[in-house]
Amino acid sequence: MICAAILAGGIGSRLKQGIPKQFVNINNKPILVHSVEKFLNVKDFDKIIVSSPKECIDKTKKLMEEYFNQNDKIIVIEGGLTRNGTILNSIRYMKNQNCENDSILVTHDASRIFVSEKLISDSIKYAKEVGAASAVIPAIDVIFESREEGKLTSIPLRKYLYHAQTPQSFNIDKFLEVYEDLSKEEIAKLDEAMIIFHLRNLEVKLFPGDPTNFKITRPFDITLAEAIFKD
Ligand code: CTP
Repeated sequence: MICAAILAGGIGSRLKQGIPKQFVNINNKPILVHSVEKFLNVKDFDKIIVSSPKECIDKTKKLMEEYFNQNDKIIVIEGGLTRNGTILNSIRYMKNQNCENDSILVTHDASRIFVSEKLISDSIKYAKEVGAASAVIPAIDVIFESREEGKLTSIPLRKYLYHAQTPQSFNIDKFLEVYEDLSKEEIAKLDEAMIIFHLRNLEVKLFPGDPTNFKITRPFDITLAEAIFKD
């Protein structure tokens, strides 16, 4: 089984639009609808698992019905308390469907609406080959580490630094094997799916992402996204 998890289990606070960001319109269509459309165009998926904060489940279901007319590939589930909690709920959904061993989950931030079919299929290919894979782009700016406000504490070498994007895809059995072995303290620190593999020294394939695959996060990103549609 190959499933996509469209991550919209959080509400996003930096966009400052007064509504959860998955419902904000870009080019007259909600962000969540844009990203689901991208995944529907890729034929590999058995199911597209759309997550939602508990309080927005009905709104999310209505939106999916409105745009995708009871497409039975699309499933709406409740998100978790954290990003990885939402990913775990998506894995649980797959397990409840009695998916075969070594099934693949492709996770994607709902607000990366310009993801290409190539990025999605590359991520599936590498997750099958290696076990886990993430799209990345090289850091353009030098990155300063500051563990004390206003104070420089270290400067990691830029040539070794990348920004992680999604799709991030992986073998769900490998994910669960590591997750179930982690301590509560380790789990509390996780904010990222790939870190689970990294914590147990499992290989994560990094493959080239794309600058247009940015996450709509700040108000300026809305202007940028609208401009891309007008281009
Ligand atoms: N996410 C999720 N479940 C959560 C928390 C986050 O599915 N419990 C999802 C978000 O909906 C989002 C993605 O994970 O699609 C990335 O989350 P994050 O980086 O925390 O949020 P941002 O998109 O950057 O938004 P903001 O920082 O403004 O909150």
